[in-house]
Amino acid sequence: MRDAAQAAEAATTADIPFYVPAGSECTLFMEAHRHRLPLLLKGPTGCGKTRFVAHMAARLGLPLHTVSCHDDLTAADLTGRYLLKGGETVWVDGPLTRAVRDGGICYLDEVVEARKDVTVVLHPLTDDRRVMPLDRTGELIEAPANFMLVVSYNPGYQNVLKSLKPSTRQRFLALDFGYPKPELEAQVVASETGVDHDTAAMLVGLAHRIRGLKGVDLEEAVSTRLLVYCATLLKAGRPLDEAVRAAIIEPLSDEADVKDGLAEAIAAILG
Ligand SMILES: Nc1ncnc2c1ncn2[C@@H]1O[C@H](COP(=O)(O)OP(=O)(O)OP(=O)(O)O)[C@@H](O)[C@H]1O
Ligand SMILES: [Mg+2]
Repeated sequence: MRDAAQAAEAATTADIPFYVPAGSECTLFMEAHRHRLPLLLKGPTGCGKTRFVAHMAARLGLPLHTVSCHDDLTAADLTGRYLLKGGETVWVDGPLTRAVRDGGICYLDEVVEARKDVTVVLHPLTDDRRVMPLDRTGELIEAPANFMLVVSYNPGYQNVLKSLKPSTRQRFLALDFGYPKPELEAQVVASETGVDHDTAAMLVGLAHRIRGLKGVDLEEAVSTRLLVYCATLLKAGRPLDEAVRAAIIEPLSDEADVKDGLAEAIAAILG
């Protein structure tokens, strides 16, 4: 009996996506969920936001509905629309409506990309009303207790046109994500790829130095995701210079002089 229980426990743990916390973000997420507060995650690309949400949804045993927002995404894309089906018009729920009906976590990735009319839908859902009015059908859907809205965006790409209005931002608890501290990032790289700790620490050290480089014109710094890619290539037996070029230099820039500068700096760092 005990073995069966232990096996069940192990299976459940194995189903939870691996996530190394940087601080108290897991507890904060739990509290946000418990108190029915929406959560905003900010941070650069590839720093673990999506993984964190997947991890927390699994830990809470909740379904995760993810919507990747883009600049054409309208409120109707999220809420739903009438479609013609076999000569009849039928209402088809959008992903946000489905999430509100079904409960669980709805994750709007890169929310600032979406059209401005999306905020009209988010406001009644993210204050204490927690409702979703569907004007087209006349329905008013109340979010179930386990519903939680999580949105993320990357402040690095932010411009005046693409930022959240204060009246939207101030409806969310917010967490600022950065790249994990070196020892945690090495743990992530090693666990994700199976490279040994020294290799992981070497890559993280390299990333740390690249992130600190002055005078290299990069839009975004090298992410934890790219370090995981680089370690994956090394684990597969590819040589270091090839892995670094394919997983770090080329994804970071298209400019020949920037890439040359990076390659030189990396060669100097690696000695
Ligand atoms: N704290 C962490 N624990 C475990 N894995 C991590 C962590 N941080 C980053 N990773 C690794 O980095 C990869 C990229 O993370 P993720 O996809 O969550 O980034 P993101 O912040 O959502 O990026 P984007 O803004 O581009 O969507 C993950 O697939 C995982 O391998
Ligand atoms: Mg993501």
